[in-house]
Amino acid sequence: MAKKIGRRTFIKQSTVAAAAAGVTYRTGVSFAAAGAQADEAKVDALLGRMTLEEKIQMLHGTLRRGFIGYVPAIPRLGIPELTLTDGPAGVRHGPGTMFPAPVALAATWDRSLARDFGAALGAETKAKGQNILLGPMVNIVRVPEGGRNFETFGEDPYLTAQICTAEIRGIQSQGVMAEVKHYAANNQEKDRLQVSAEVDERTLREIYLPAFEAAVKEAKVGSVMAAYNKVNGTFSSENTHLLKDILKTEWAFDGFVVSDWGATHSTVEAANNGLDIEMPGGAFFGEALLAAGRAGHVSQATIDDKVRRILRMMVRFGFLDRPAKVGPIDFKAQRQVARRVAEAGVVLLKNEGNLLPLDISSFKSIAVIGAYADRAASGGGGSARMAPLNTVGPLGAIADKIGNRAVLQFLKFVPGKDLSKSDPPTTGAGLLADAAQLAKECDLALVFARDFETEGADRAAITLPDEQDELISTVVQANPRTVVVLNTGCMVLVSRWADVVPAIVQAWYSGADDGNVVADVLFGDVNPSGKLPITFPRTREDTGVVTAEQYPGANGKGLYAEGVFIGYRHFDKDNIAPQFAFGHGLSYTTFEYGTVKLSSKRIKPGESLTVEVEVKNSGRREGAEVVQFYVQDLQASVPRPIKELKGFEKIVLRPGQAKVVRINLDARSMAFYDVTKKQWLVEPGQFKVMCGSSSRDIRVSAEFEVGA
Ligand code: BGC
Repeated sequence: MAKKIGRRTFIKQSTVAAAAAGVTYRTGVSFAAAGAQADEAKVDALLGRMTLEEKIQMLHGTLRRGFIGYVPAIPRLGIPELTLTDGPAGVRHGPGTMFPAPVALAATWDRSLARDFGAALGAETKAKGQNILLGPMVNIVRVPEGGRNFETFGEDPYLTAQICTAEIRGIQSQGVMAEVKHYAANNQEKDRLQVSAEVDERTLREIYLPAFEAAVKEAKVGSVMAAYNKVNGTFSSENTHLLKDILKTEWAFDGFVVSDWGATHSTVEAANNGLDIEMPGGAFFGEALLAAGRAGHVSQATIDDKVRRILRMMVRFGFLDRPAKVGPIDFKAQRQVARRVAEAGVVLLKNEGNLLPLDISSFKSIAVIGAYADRAASGGGGSARMAPLNTVGPLGAIADKIGNRAVLQFLKFVPGKDLSKSDPPTTGAGLLADAAQLAKECDLALVFARDFETEGADRAAITLPDEQDELISTVVQANPRTVVVLNTGCMVLVSRWADVVPAIVQAWYSGADDGNVVADVLFGDVNPSGKLPITFPRTREDTGVVTAEQYPGANGKGLYAEGVFIGYRHFDKDNIAPQFAFGHGLSYTTFEYGTVKLSSKRIKPGESLTVEVEVKNSGRREGAEVVQFYVQDLQASVPRPIKELKGFEKIVLRPGQAKVVRINLDARSMAFYDVTKKQWLVEPGQFKVMCGSSSRDIRVSAEFEVGA
């Protein structure tokens, strides 16, 4: 029965997305057709005046101090330089705004915030005199240890595609080009320069490619970065199936492909198989390409196509009329965007007995414990590392928040070493005793735990490093009123203590304002509304990638034997209870779901359907809920997941307020990739739509039939 609930507001997915984008996009046409024609004429005119040497100069980077990627200008023709900079969590050309890690953006499940995040990154890129931003990174979390998981948008292709298209639209709204990366199946750091992702076509299409496809078709991304790894035996940078068949032909990508830094391995193969620019230097696409062009091993038409693609994008993005120029940056405004994203991305994993939000008046003393609690967990390492202007750590932010209303005590727990005391270092065990003692003396213990994820190396294990598990167990034993704040870039194993710790907050790497963000959530100035973009397993063995053949791989091959069953798709298939499910995240208020209404109970293959559900804030605080829609094909002829995310909306509701969320399920939401027919296929039969607050908290569902 549908509950009769308050005032109704209709949210329509398509209008929200279009409004957020601020632009109307039409398939195959980026701007007005007439404009596009004029652009092509301009490109052809320029191309006609270029010498072969000038063309080759545009097809590789030139190392220039202070620049991550640089293609020099051709002043004779009025073609400006290309300046490429990282990255996904901040603009690395000098210090600047440190945004939260992309995984935190994904945890917001908020398209309009993703657009704001992109626009802020784009604005800072432009003001730093750069014209291409090397992001977003849209590789799917496959390997739990993956060193770059913090740079991704999680384990689900639909969520990743939604966040990435919004971010790209934001970046490109500033006249800056985004470069979506790393194409494709770049899912581990171990052996990343040579490992071959052995992945079947259906899995590629359904899991690893959709975000790239959406970046190209929907967000009109200007450039794509080819990954380091091989895919099915061929380096991504010379993989004709990926670059030519799929990207440039099937998806009609009219921008250009850049190799990851040092990911080019050949001249003729790479040039003929679809790579357009070698980065960062010209070992293969410099003199060698010039020679190959002269000798006819790479045709004039192929070289022209590459240059045309680059010039086309330079014209489209206005680079020819507006060469990269340094300008002012409103760091205050930038930081506000970063903070809003970080706040909206915090996930309240557990809150037994409503311990949170903390009511300062009920605590006389608070213990803050953790090796890193006095420093911001602002970001991960590698090419996404950002040099922040300044940061705020949790200890300082909490001290500011409570003022003199309670006594704050800090223990900097470092295993085997006590940095907060001047006496000789004690043993790890001794420090655990110190932590227990302090926790016992105080009314409340806040434990901060973190990990350190970085490009170039996978995590050794997905447990917390540095005896932090022992610390948490010890503290909660000493004082059951313990809150754990996790600053990790991806999932960690928490089963040793998760059952006994009453409140757990997942705060990712939250950017420059990490401390402020966490303090605002703990003390209730912000009502958490983030949802997990990844599954937290109970044990490492519970995940879908467990054998050595799968990861790190054997004989140079990483076998994607799990197929489409990664993340929650695997947990559902094998009926394994996760520690915290994909899509999970609590609020300081509660939400009630009405029944699901479908626009039709029976459709033909290829038709779409609208699904709506009414959601009400049944608690006492304003809060935001991410209403999630999952689809199941109940009569599939191939093994298909029990649930696949195909729609979501984040809505803000005042206490007692209700809204109707309506989404459109198009044919693709019901389809699987048919490898024999080489196309997306909707099979006739029964389908189920599940709607809920997480992938394991389905509140209502309905069935429909696709007729033959
Ligand atoms: C990374 C890319 C990055 C590039 C330039 C590479 O090592 O894989 O993501 O954009 O370096 O810094």
